[in-house]
Amino acid sequence: MEDMEARKESIMKTLKKYSQEHLLNGFDKLEESKQKELLDQIETTDFELINSLYNHTREDVKIPESQIAPIEYLDKDKLNGYYRSFQETGEKAIREGKLAAVTMAGGQGTRLGHSGPKGTFDIGLESHKSLFELLSDSLKEQGKKYDVIIPWFIMTSKENNADTIEFFAKRRYFGREKDKNIFFFEQGELPMVDTEGKILIGEDGLIKEAADGHGGIYEALVKNGMTKKMRELGVEWIFIGGVDNCLVKMVDPILMGIAIQKQVTAAGKSVVKANPQEKVGVFCKKNGRPSVVEYTEIPEDMAKATDERGELIYGESHILCNLFNIDAVERMGSKPLPYHTAFKKATYIDKNGNKVVPDGPNAYKFEAFLFDAFGELDDMAILRVKREEEFAPVKNASGVDSPETARELYRKFYNL
Ligand code: UD1
Repeated sequence: MEDMEARKESIMKTLKKYSQEHLLNGFDKLEESKQKELLDQIETTDFELINSLYNHTREDVKIPESQIAPIEYLDKDKLNGYYRSFQETGEKAIREGKLAAVTMAGGQGTRLGHSGPKGTFDIGLESHKSLFELLSDSLKEQGKKYDVIIPWFIMTSKENNADTIEFFAKRRYFGREKDKNIFFFEQGELPMVDTEGKILIGEDGLIKEAADGHGGIYEALVKNGMTKKMRELGVEWIFIGGVDNCLVKMVDPILMGIAIQKQVTAAGKSVVKANPQEKVGVFCKKNGRPSVVEYTEIPEDMAKATDERGELIYGESHILCNLFNIDAVERMGSKPLPYHTAFKKATYIDKNGNKVVPDGPNAYKFEAFLFDAFGELDDMAILRVKREEEFAPVKNASGVDSPETARELYRKFYNL
């Protein structure tokens, strides 16, 4: 107990320095194990980082337009004579077991009105398969084609890790063997802060944290020993995709073949942006390096600009289907990324111990985006693919990118 008091006192000093003393207001009412957890949380919080992130929340994100240029791409439909050659190179590498698949599944299905991990969502097909099962089916089928079992790595968050693993365990990992060809690892988290820069306390009396965005994936792959595991398995290339695209093609010999033959450390797929307002990031070059401008940050004139053929100049949508060389992933995992700010609705316990349930956004969440690391890559090949073959995202409960649109695309593609 004395130890705890001494620890608390020293922690209070830190909290005073950063004007975050309120974090201990409810301390005495917590159970001992929770008290310890809270102190652990505070000790591992980077207050300098949180302060600096908060200080930047009021700044407008200005895209340095002068540093941005369109990016070159290859059209999968127009590879002509090169198609077979890329295919052969890619297939050989896949058959040799050089590919691993990673699915980013840290998100919840909240926007879809689903209370569990997003990957457990049933998009309403006759089979009632979850997103995870649809992805698993496709990965299995592709593996069979090349006579290999492609190892599958699933990134969860603290919020959904236990539920995700339980979901898979109940379904016997869809025929895979845990820790042999299916692996789970957790992404990081950061505290949320209010509009005054105060870190929030959640209903459990602990610091309210939120997933730190999928940009943490490289570091999480390295820190959790996943790239080490991949190397043991002989993996050289890592495909990273989102969980919410039920047509994601994680095994693509053409993409692999291009990356290998062009000797680039990464290759990403794009589809033509449907309209300037579509909620997708677009590939571009920033200071000569590959990059993505996110839909929330692109200036309107840039989003609307067209070339002489009337095509969008920034029209290669980033669909979160990217392939990386394992060395590049490890390199990117050792460099910190910038954080983007999102203003969100968060229920919390105020400094007087009262629960606050807001009507609208009231707190900042900080997220790193995986494509902010693309600047570390010397070059990246972009392969334009057909939307109807590879992009059926499930983002909203209804309307665009909803279970209804995804179902239709899925059925059409698989002739169901
Ligand atoms: C995302 C991309 C956008 C792209 C679009 C294509 C970002 C920031 N933007 O937008 O460039 O054009 O998809 O569909 O990603 N995830 C985690 N952990 C997190 C956050 C997200 O695992 O902390 C996963 C989600 O489960 C999902 C994917 O990343 O699989 C995409 O995240 P989401 O927040 O839905 O991104 P979008 O806004 O749709």
